[in-house]
Amino acid sequence: MTGRFSGRVAFVTGGSRGIGKGIVERFAEEGAKVAFIDLNEEALVQTTNELREKGYDVFSKVANVADAEQVENAVKEAYDAFGSIDILVNNAGVIRDNLLFKMTDTDWQTVMDVHLKGSFNASRAVQKYMVENKYGRIINISSTSALGNRGQANYAAAKAGLQGFTKTLAIELGKYGITANSVAPGFIETEMTKETAARIGIPFEQLIQASVANIPVGRSGKPEDIANAVAFFADERSSFVNGQVIYVAGGPKN
Ligand SMILES: NC(=O)c1ccc[n+]([C@@H]2O[C@H](COP(=O)([O-])OP(=O)(O)OC[C@H]3O[C@@H](n4cnc5c(N)ncnc54)[C@H](O)[C@@H]3O)[C@@H](O)[C@H]2O)c1
Repeated sequence: MTGRFSGRVAFVTGGSRGIGKGIVERFAEEGAKVAFIDLNEEALVQTTNELREKGYDVFSKVANVADAEQVENAVKEAYDAFGSIDILVNNAGVIRDNLLFKMTDTDWQTVMDVHLKGSFNASRAVQKYMVENKYGRIINISSTSALGNRGQANYAAAKAGLQGFTKTLAIELGKYGITANSVAPGFIETEMTKETAARIGIPFEQLIQASVANIPVGRSGKPEDIANAVAFFADERSSFVNGQVIYVAGGPKN
């Protein structure tokens, strides 16, 4: 298969559904071999089958990003299967929204473990292959919530933390031909935003309409909107773009 990413191998965390799935599909459509991990086995198997039916070369494995050993094993298996890891997208994420006074230790820790520890685990695991190969593209999925969002003290802290993490990787790894950048989505229609609607007790359509009212381009985001921005950073020709955060939110903020 030819395309912008032909000959490249992409590794995507949380690639079974939502934004992660959109990213996996984009890389596959543009010629990459794609490996993805996810905690959700049912969604993982379904997405794997869908992609293989379309003729794409994919590797997938159930793994928890918060568990360093599981991530290292999955990265090694993907490397053994495909011969390199050129692109990493740290996308796996969860929300545990609550106002500060109601936020539990577990709400806080779970979000830190998945977003921050998870991105650390996967980046550390892939860097050795990328450094050896003197090539790499690391893209971390942040959020407009990094700028602050009611009920998301944990998530906002993690997503802002990911931006600092991104810039530090950019500084440390640039000399090896590895760039690190971040995509910060606004409101995107996925299971995660469906969960938010359910938690606050309104139909998903109503949450979409309320969000769209504040989005300058007048529509909500779709996974492919994020996949497009990820693909820009992942492009070989983006080698001078390093340590940046791009907000993909239909306007300057959500
Ligand atoms: N949907 C939005 O509006 C939005 C906005 C900004 C940022 N984001 C971020 O985009 C990313 C994807 O979100 P989404 O909306 O597609 O959510 P989603 O819930 O639809 O998908 C997240 C995927 O990550 C997987 N996952 C969760 N915890 C994991 C773990 N510990 N190990 C491995 N996989 C795990 C889930 O099983 C799921 O497949 C997240 O980082 C999220 O914070 C989403």
